[in-house]
Amino acid sequence: MRITQHWLNATIINIIDRTPTVREFELVPEDAGPQTYAPGAHLQVRLPIAGGEPQTRSYSLIGLPNTRCYRIAVKRMDAGRGGSLHMWQLTTGDRLVISEPQNHFLLSFDAPEYLLIAGGIGVTPLVAMADALGAHRTRTGVSVRMVYGARRSDQGDEFAYADDLHRALGTCLQRVNADAGERIDFAAEFARLHPEAQVYCCGPVPMLDAIKEAWIAARRPTQNLRFETFGNSGRLASQPFTVRVPRHNLEIEVAANVSLLDALEVAGVEVLYDCRRGECGLCAMDILSVDGELDHRDVFLSEQEKRSASRLCACVSRATGSITLDSAFRAIT
Ligand code: FES
Repeated sequence: MRITQHWLNATIINIIDRTPTVREFELVPEDAGPQTYAPGAHLQVRLPIAGGEPQTRSYSLIGLPNTRCYRIAVKRMDAGRGGSLHMWQLTTGDRLVISEPQNHFLLSFDAPEYLLIAGGIGVTPLVAMADALGAHRTRTGVSVRMVYGARRSDQGDEFAYADDLHRALGTCLQRVNADAGERIDFAAEFARLHPEAQVYCCGPVPMLDAIKEAWIAARRPTQNLRFETFGNSGRLASQPFTVRVPRHNLEIEVAANVSLLDALEVAGVEVLYDCRRGECGLCAMDILSVDGELDHRDVFLSEQEKRSASRLCACVSRATGSITLDSAFRAIT
């Protein structure tokens, strides 16, 4: 159960393939034009995947706001939960149900130095940040760098938006090609930073875990590391699993292409949520038992909580086998 949500109809007015697996969609909301938003914002999109109950996906807004359209980009995930494949079937003129822009990844302009770190499709919220910080650097002289890890080989170049980023940041953009065996050395990157520098990063959960570990090891202020993730980047491939909820006397099969949160909602179990991206922790549920393996895909729970198998974030995390959860939801009166 989301506290508030306002859905709008929108029309796709243009589609651009940015890489072999990243497709950009330009959307115009009906009734009202695009609203302004701050860098780091995203849209939620309701998708009737395979004709089933609508499922929600979050996509970052690309670039700074304009009065013509919203821009989002979708990476095709052949082994994902079906959202990207649904999006890739759409054509110009098709309609979508979207939210207004939301932002859990706000950029502040009070730091003496900035480092942006992107992993793969995690580049999307950072395009607007690079634009904004590039202009901020011109005005103030503040230092801004970006390190961007992705794949580039004979099979294709997956550095989406590299030209836009280069225009914004020039030689302060460093590309790290995973296909060439290159890796980002987070400890070395952090050692170069001003003590009060801010780092903004977005990428798969394992990359963010490595960043958090290096940040903590460098004894840097927690509030200066800001990150966002995307919810389909688990350790294990998405597969069906069983969830039991004794409080409701329920046993639910969670299909490979459905989130645990959606499956619980369809079964009538009310779970509070907000971000649906594994960031706010509102959907965290107590785990009573696990017969299989947990695949934590959030960045909210601590490593200790994940290791202890005490809670999981229902919006993004999954399991194999079966798990038993406690729904602690109490209606707000
Ligand atoms: S709804 Fe925010 S972590 Fe799940």
